[in-house]
Amino acid sequence: MNVLLVGSGGREHALAWKLKRSPLLRELHCAPGNAGIAQLATCHDVSAEDVPGLLALARGLAADLTVVGPEAPLVAGIVDEFTANGLRVFGPTKAAAVLEGSKSFCRELLERHSIPSAKYAVFTEPGPALRYVREQGAPIVVKADGLAAGKGAIVCESVGQAEAAIRQILVDRAFGEAGDRLVVEECLQGPELSLIAFSDGKTVSPMVPSQDHKRAGERDTGPNTGGMGCYSPVPLVTPEVFEQAVVEVLNPTVAAMAAAGRLYKGVLYAGLMLTATGPRVLEFNARFGDPETQVILPRLESDLLEIMLAVVDGKLDTLSPKWSERVAVCVVVASGGYPGSYEKGNALSGLEEAEKLADVTVFHAGTARKDGQVVTAGGRVLGVTALGDDFPAAIRRAYEGVDRITFEGAYCRRDIARRALQ
Ligand code: AMP
Ligand code: GLY
Repeated sequence: MNVLLVGSGGREHALAWKLKRSPLLRELHCAPGNAGIAQLATCHDVSAEDVPGLLALARGLAADLTVVGPEAPLVAGIVDEFTANGLRVFGPTKAAAVLEGSKSFCRELLERHSIPSAKYAVFTEPGPALRYVREQGAPIVVKADGLAAGKGAIVCESVGQAEAAIRQILVDRAFGEAGDRLVVEECLQGPELSLIAFSDGKTVSPMVPSQDHKRAGERDTGPNTGGMGCYSPVPLVTPEVFEQAVVEVLNPTVAAMAAAGRLYKGVLYAGLMLTATGPRVLEFNARFGDPETQVILPRLESDLLEIMLAVVDGKLDTLSPKWSERVAVCVVVASGGYPGSYEKGNALSGLEEAEKLADVTVFHAGTARKDGQVVTAGGRVLGVTALGDDFPAAIRRAYEGVDRITFEGAYCRRDIARRALQ
């Protein structure tokens, strides 16, 4: 089969790496890709958000399947567009991706079906929103309704901070149209967990759990990022907690979407808080996590392409994906300044030396090739992933890989997965 992969991050490099192992694969193409993906796939200079451009590309390549990595084209309706043109595509339709694309839609669906979540209210005008947060008090969470590149959720420690967040979204329009509406939520407490599943609209097949480190600094300090590293499995997720999250959250959500006429096919990512009263939903994403994918796929023993085809064809019930018992740890190496502004175009060295280590894979997140050299092209530059028989071994290996790589301004957190040792 010819497969076209859409995206350019570490998540897409991990998808390419796993798809490449499929006996069903003939050619792998990627748009737009990065320097790491280019070692596995033919990259094409079409942006992940250019739906007409991607459609023309998929046609030209006679792609048998297109796999969509990021959320923006899904929420924009790439799956509907491809399907209407007779092309097979892996991901939710626009009507289903709204689960990520609108936080108010998500909250209302969860409430209607009594799926454990946070108490919330939706506003379009600053006045009532300000009155509500003054009434509720802090801590409280203010979120832009639409897609805001991971920056739209503001956890407020004081009422003053919540008032500022409301003004930022509804008055200053900091997130543009994504802030036409906002959601104010109860602030939940507890450890966070990412539970990501395949869904064909009827059958849910959960992947192994993972946990990422969102803050830029060690001991979870500093600003939020897209994720500075992660690990799988998650020791605090006992088989009972896992089962509870599947039965109380994933299964009823997919059933609720089907009942609403929004069949959910693709990957469903539940961001959960493990509260004293059980797992509760923080958010859903309509795609794989980044960097979660970099620790989940190395543990998948089954053929990813076969699973994706089963999802598209509504036959997920015929497969039972196998997962390895090994531990995976991914350390993100970022450009100095990230998540704020940072330099681009700095040359990387040591990539091959790191790759030579047993059980180490270097996933590229923000790289490009320039004059025959791999250079930095993003905030998160690499995700160095290692497998091991236990956490100490996987952590040691991952940092051995990290320490072989250098570029101007490189930084990483030195405490990735340390939480899992406690
Ligand atoms: P989201 O974009 O909705 O995943 O939110 C980003 C981050 O904000 C989450 O990973 C949590 O750390 C935090 N967060 C979101 N919603 C809540 C909530 N209701 N209570 C506490 N923290 C939250
Ligand atoms: N790592 C968080 C996300 O992919 O949304």
